[in-house]
Amino acid sequence: MSPVLSVQNLNKIYKGGKQALSDINLDVAKGEILALLGPNGAGKTTLISIICGIVNASNGKVLVGGFDNVKQFRQARSLIGLVPQELTTDAFETPWANLNFSRGLFGLPADPAKVEQVLRDLSLWDKKDNRIMTLSGGMKRRLLIAKALVHEPQILFLDEPTAGVDVALRQDMWQMVARLREQGVTVVLTTHYIEEAEAIADRVGVISGGKLLLVEDKDTLMANMGQKQLQVDLKTPLTLLPESLSALGFSLEKEGQQLLLRYGGKGEQIEVGAMLSAIHQAGVEVADIHTAQSSLEEIFIELLQETV
Ligand SMILES: Nc1ncnc2c1ncn2[C@@H]1O[C@H](COP(=O)(O)OP(=O)(O)OP(=O)(O)O)[C@@H](O)[C@H]1O
Ligand SMILES: [Mg+2]
Repeated sequence: MSPVLSVQNLNKIYKGGKQALSDINLDVAKGEILALLGPNGAGKTTLISIICGIVNASNGKVLVGGFDNVKQFRQARSLIGLVPQELTTDAFETPWANLNFSRGLFGLPADPAKVEQVLRDLSLWDKKDNRIMTLSGGMKRRLLIAKALVHEPQILFLDEPTAGVDVALRQDMWQMVARLREQGVTVVLTTHYIEEAEAIADRVGVISGGKLLLVEDKDTLMANMGQKQLQVDLKTPLTLLPESLSALGFSLEKEGQQLLLRYGGKGEQIEVGAMLSAIHQAGVEVADIHTAQSSLEEIFIELLQETV
């Protein structure tokens, strides 16, 4: 199936010479959720802004639903909903007027039922006639999302959707993203919160210094790069690690109270039973065992370190 979004050899050099993006290539399939992770200044907003036609690329090409986002701007833009990183709303308007106007901007006929549904989905229905300036920050953010959805886009861009929002709203956003996916909407979001990518993304892209370091299926990424740990708590602390155990890769941690084995990079497996009998043979008594998996966060930090 042809991708709903295709970014080809995209470069951006801002006036003044800052290269914000270097040779970005990215295809996004219909209905997937892609999270772009990267530190401040990585180029995430620049990438999204170029795709949405707010910033010009220095060179390269973007196709949205097959439409060139420069030469066929209107067609491309009509497929896109954008929730920008910076909150901007018209203070004196009401949500109701704002959403109806937004639909009109895209040349769509008035559809009060659709506007109502979007407002209800974002828990803004009871605020529909209040002035926007009287809404809380979280409500304004919901309104921006409503505004991005009211023309029924096929692909939604969320630039840091949950920066500075409370836990309840973050959960709401995640649920909203899941609902949109069920409706076949593609979602591209940027985030600093790795747990967010872990929770909702199908694929994860890591961007740093204007380069897309990798784009990979989240589960594959976790399986290939995620390290596992076997932690063995000891009944009596050891002062010295038996040689047979060090040969198997164990180290002695927590002031001699724990044996630790890291494994699993690139899909490596271990026989936990064999490890335990080796421990037993070394005359070491076990109090408890646990396994732990490194998080996406640890993987991410490791990746960024490799590239500096
Ligand atoms: N209008 C501009 N003119 C010049 N340089 C810019 C402009 N906008 C962004 N930059 C620079 O381009 C780089 C990428 O910025 P961008 O906003 O895309 O990063 P980001 O990944 O979205 O960061 P954050 O996580 O802080 O939102 C930064 O070095 C930034 O200073
Ligand atoms: Mg940004």
